[in-house]
Amino acid sequence: MTATADYTEKIPNNVDLRDDRRLQRALESWQPNFLNWWESMGPRLPTEDVYLRTAVNVGREGWAHFGHVAMKEYRWGIFLAERNQDRRIAFGQHKGEPAWQQVPGEYRAELQRLIVIQGDTEPASVEQQRNLGATAPSLYDLRNLFQVNVEEGRHLWAMVYLLHAYFGREGREEAEELLHRNSGSEDAPRILGAFNEETPDWLSFFMFTYFTDRDGKYQLGTLKESAFDPLSRTCEFMLKEEAHHMMVGTTGIDRVVARTVQVMKEHDTDDVVAHGAIPLNVIQKYLNFHYSVSLDLFGSETSTNVANYFTAGLKGRWSEERRRDNHRLTDDSIMVDALTDGDIGQTEVAALVGLNTDLRREYISDCQNGVNRWNVTLDDAGLEQRLRLPHVAFNRKVGAFSGIETSPNGEKLSIDEWNRRKDAWLPSAVDKTYVRSLMKPVHERGKIAAWIAPPRQGINGQPFDYDYVHLR
Ligand SMILES: [Fe+2]
Ligand SMILES: [Fe+2]
Repeated sequence: MTATADYTEKIPNNVDLRDDRRLQRALESWQPNFLNWWESMGPRLPTEDVYLRTAVNVGREGWAHFGHVAMKEYRWGIFLAERNQDRRIAFGQHKGEPAWQQVPGEYRAELQRLIVIQGDTEPASVEQQRNLGATAPSLYDLRNLFQVNVEEGRHLWAMVYLLHAYFGREGREEAEELLHRNSGSEDAPRILGAFNEETPDWLSFFMFTYFTDRDGKYQLGTLKESAFDPLSRTCEFMLKEEAHHMMVGTTGIDRVVARTVQVMKEHDTDDVVAHGAIPLNVIQKYLNFHYSVSLDLFGSETSTNVANYFTAGLKGRWSEERRRDNHRLTDDSIMVDALTDGDIGQTEVAALVGLNTDLRREYISDCQNGVNRWNVTLDDAGLEQRLRLPHVAFNRKVGAFSGIETSPNGEKLSIDEWNRRKDAWLPSAVDKTYVRSLMKPVHERGKIAAWIAPPRQGINGQPFDYDYVHLR
């Protein structure tokens, strides 16, 4: 295994695929199925080529190459972060033992399941976003969308490689199923609920990359800690690509806010609709929605499955090695959100069963960083308004608060009151129609839609008016 990707092979890789003919043949027979899936379920907008980055090296420096490529000729490949020969398991009952290079029989089913669930989300997001190209606010944004899309496709490759290389016939069958299930499909939907919703407009896309893709980042962070070394190294490299997806979301929302602020100042009004911008309260409603559905992706507050995954070494905590405890957690406890006699509160549970809560809290504090940044934009403009994350009990469908309704401040509401007031907190039909009405394509070089500000920087040092995409 080398740091540099071999692009002379049919499937670019840094795992010496050519030394394992069987595996190479298996993956080469999956490849046309992937390409068929990309053609039928990937981006709809016809393009000549797109200014994309391609991974060429997994090392810290200069790992990507930028250039215009026809999207279906993008070189999806298999890249694992470099192996640390001395790596040891950092947590759980096997702590201190050498990391596993093969799948232990006793954990085979669980590991396969974790990989399938992660793998299923990658192509799902491509499917959810496939219509967005037609309404891109600029060529810069269009390029970013496609970059995210090809990399989610590569993340599918990453998981399929593990399934093929380590899980035998069952793994190969699961790899087929990953192409067979589709987002929103009636008979074969994607595994997780949030990945079956269409991403209907660009405000939703930015919210999705900020909040939902960030859930992905945290899940990958736990798998990066895995005792199963190939999974750990795969996720480590995926996280590098993920950083760009996070940037698209953070700066995307920031640019929407910046444009709204500009219009508010220019016309001295909160009513920016007349001027084709998105009102702050509508941005807040989209935020409320995407944040709350993303919290659901972390599962219930307590989980014995997740406790078992941790103890077995399959899945660690976020930044496991930076935690100052014994990394076994057998005697520790944690306070988790709970409904006690109908009231919102917390209850103490064993730390191991509360790991979903631990991960969700790490995620929440990360989410807060973006909100702070957007609020700086508001503050700099001398505006009083602020964006905020809603209460953790707001609009939840999973976990302790799934049975109740609350306001964004966390005050409990009767169903009647919720129904009466929810349009003030979640995107209403009117809001959605308005946002969609703004989604007119701006596919001209250097131009941008009226509802969003241009980025402060282009991609790879290129200016905003660079020809990021050539349309067909
Ligand atoms: Fe991904
Ligand atoms: Fe992503």
